[in-house]
Amino acid sequence: MTALLAVEHLQVEFRTEEGVLRAVDDVSFELQRGELLGIVGESGSGKSVTAMTIMGLTRGPNASFSGRAVLGDLDLVTASERQLERVRGGRVAMIFQDPMTALNPVHRVGDQIVEQIRAHQSENRRAAMDRAVDLLDRVGIPRAKERARSYPHEFSGGMRQRVMIAMALSCSPEILIADEPTTALDVTTQAQILAEIGTLRKELGVGVLLITHDLGVIADVADRVVVMYAGQVVEQGSLSDIFYDPRHPYTWGLLGSVPRLDADRPERLPTIPGTPPSLLRRPTGCRFAPRCAWRFEACSRPPALKSDDPETDEHTGRCWLDLDVARERRVVGGTLGLPVDDRTTAGGGAANP
Ligand SMILES: Nc1ncnc2c1ncn2[C@@H]1O[C@H](COP(=O)(O)OP(=O)(O)OP(=O)(O)O)[C@@H](O)[C@H]1O
Ligand SMILES: [Mg+2]
Repeated sequence: MTALLAVEHLQVEFRTEEGVLRAVDDVSFELQRGELLGIVGESGSGKSVTAMTIMGLTRGPNASFSGRAVLGDLDLVTASERQLERVRGGRVAMIFQDPMTALNPVHRVGDQIVEQIRAHQSENRRAAMDRAVDLLDRVGIPRAKERARSYPHEFSGGMRQRVMIAMALSCSPEILIADEPTTALDVTTQAQILAEIGTLRKELGVGVLLITHDLGVIADVADRVVVMYAGQVVEQGSLSDIFYDPRHPYTWGLLGSVPRLDADRPERLPTIPGTPPSLLRRPTGCRFAPRCAWRFEACSRPPALKSDDPETDEHTGRCWLDLDVARERRVVGGTLGLPVDDRTTAGGGAANP
């Protein structure tokens, strides 16, 4: 099956005053039709730069790129501005954390959706407005016809996010990129928006790239997950691979930060000790090693992203631990997270027998 979008060895560097910052380092993944792919990782791991590069939004005099992002017969990394214009809001739509960055405060929301439709399709105003109202209704805005005449500030945060989704869908995109679409919302609204996104890709076959720093957010909706750390993919697999057989200690740490309803609640949620490395001066070995409770001698060399059985297994991880050892280790402390009691001595140099 040809992928809807194939990101291949994508690398993005920014020249800064302090040196060259490699924000995205050899990132590859595929997105299939109707699939929801989650990208997770801490702040600064390169999630947004990856997404924005796909949309052609990171270009600038200080930026340099290699690798490809293939959409049909177009490579979005090298596409011309004109080609990108046609793709943005057409074949690929994006929704952001803060809808106000994409909505114009002085225009009625219905008109904004109409403009968007008419920029890409030759539809008359009337028909475009009917479609805008339909879309608003579709994403759960009550009294859509009336509400189409409201201004963005007259909507609550959750409703504005729905307007953004309606706008994103107005051109029947093949791909929807949602960058932290629910971070600013309360949990109930967050769940509704995520359910809405989930339905859209099932019903309309849209491929969704959902970016978040929170594994809990994608647990219900994702088919596959890419875990990013310091600009690299450190683990990639199906939702069940990541939640039930996670290979990378960083993923264990992220999972440890997800509250579990099926277990006794810990006193406090474990967080991953330490901070991510500088992207200007990256560690030469495994980038997670300085924070890893299971690091050993091998970790001074960079691990490759590999699967246990490349023939049959699409679950990959970037870690030197043998899989058997990893499976044994990660239950330390009775949770999937970092061993809480060892946190103060993290990095004590566990050996890989
Ligand atoms: N235009 C730019 N110039 C220089 N550095 C940049 C630029 N854009 C992003 N960066 C840097 O690239 C790194 C990755 O940033 P990115 O926004 O992709 O992180 P993220 O994973 O989306 O984090 P968050 O969860 O906080 O949104 C950061 O260190 C950021 O400061
Ligand atoms: Mg971001």
